[in-house]
Amino acid sequence: MLQELDQLKTEALAEIDGLSGESDLEAARVKFLGKKGSVAAASSGMRDVAKEDKPAVGQKLNEVRTAITDALDEKNAALTAAKDAAAFDGIDPSLPGRPIPQGALHPLTHVLDNAVSVLRRMGFALAEGPEIETEWHCFDALNTPEDHPARNESDTFYFENGKLLRTHTSSVQIRTMETTPPPIRIIAPGSAFRRDEIDATHLTAFHQLEGLYVDENVTLADLKGTLEFFFRELFGSKTEVRFRPHFFPFTEPSFEVDLKLEAPGKAAKWIEIAGCGMVDPAVFDAVGQTRDDEEYSPKKVTGFAFGMGLDRLAMITYGIPDLRLLIENDVRFLKQFA
Ligand code: PHE
Repeated sequence: MLQELDQLKTEALAEIDGLSGESDLEAARVKFLGKKGSVAAASSGMRDVAKEDKPAVGQKLNEVRTAITDALDEKNAALTAAKDAAAFDGIDPSLPGRPIPQGALHPLTHVLDNAVSVLRRMGFALAEGPEIETEWHCFDALNTPEDHPARNESDTFYFENGKLLRTHTSSVQIRTMETTPPPIRIIAPGSAFRRDEIDATHLTAFHQLEGLYVDENVTLADLKGTLEFFFRELFGSKTEVRFRPHFFPFTEPSFEVDLKLEAPGKAAKWIEIAGCGMVDPAVFDAVGQTRDDEEYSPKKVTGFAFGMGLDRLAMITYGIPDLRLLIENDVRFLKQFA
């Protein structure tokens, strides 16, 4: 019996050594170690071994099983290593890798993210509206009469069905009030479109950030405080903000907001950054017409609105001299903001 076991070991190791494929290896495992394999057969032969020989034969049996198991494992490792080596054949793994170009946020996106996060901290929620608008939402409800120059064919992109590309995001003020009762405190970033000659400071498609707050007893002081805080968060606590009387059909009183920019070595200069004002009662009346209720009655509520150019905000933030750089997608330019 001992001899037979030694022979089994010798044959098995020789056979395993000669294997060359993974499937052969699996077949050999079954043949020697499987339930009906040679080792199992030998161990069932233990029954017939004389009692005094059992310990020696048992030990041998274990030795054979271990030797075959180790041989199979070793062979398996060798076959895997050979396969890996073949996969690298003809490839020099010591060469440096090819760099994967990394993208970055567009400067406009940076500016928008910052602006939105400051305003959200102040309790403004995001709202949106369509870029293809009705005249009602873009003009009429905003107290902008038929003969206002902004409505001119030469200033606005009209579609044949009478709709138009919104000329400002103020249309979202109307859409929000039409669907949501006060109090509301929203911001609406988005694209706006005008029939302008394209140059360093004008594009036909640009970006605005609209804000609207309506509640009982909202005052001009709230508007000033909100915008001053906002610009100081963006440009530093010493930033000077100036409110200049202006006219917008949908706010009364109305203001333009200027920021004082101080660049080292240059004379400080005021730059116009936003329009704002207290919501005109005529706007609340228009909203009341659509809603057919008194929720926005100017007797009950007041509100402020503001709108600013995001492209211009990006120009100021990054010192970009020409708006066109923002839309040309020149990687050499955009890379600077990565
Ligand atoms: N919609 C105005 C513009 O595009 C900006 C504005 C918004 C003014 C809200 C007042 C209130 O110029």
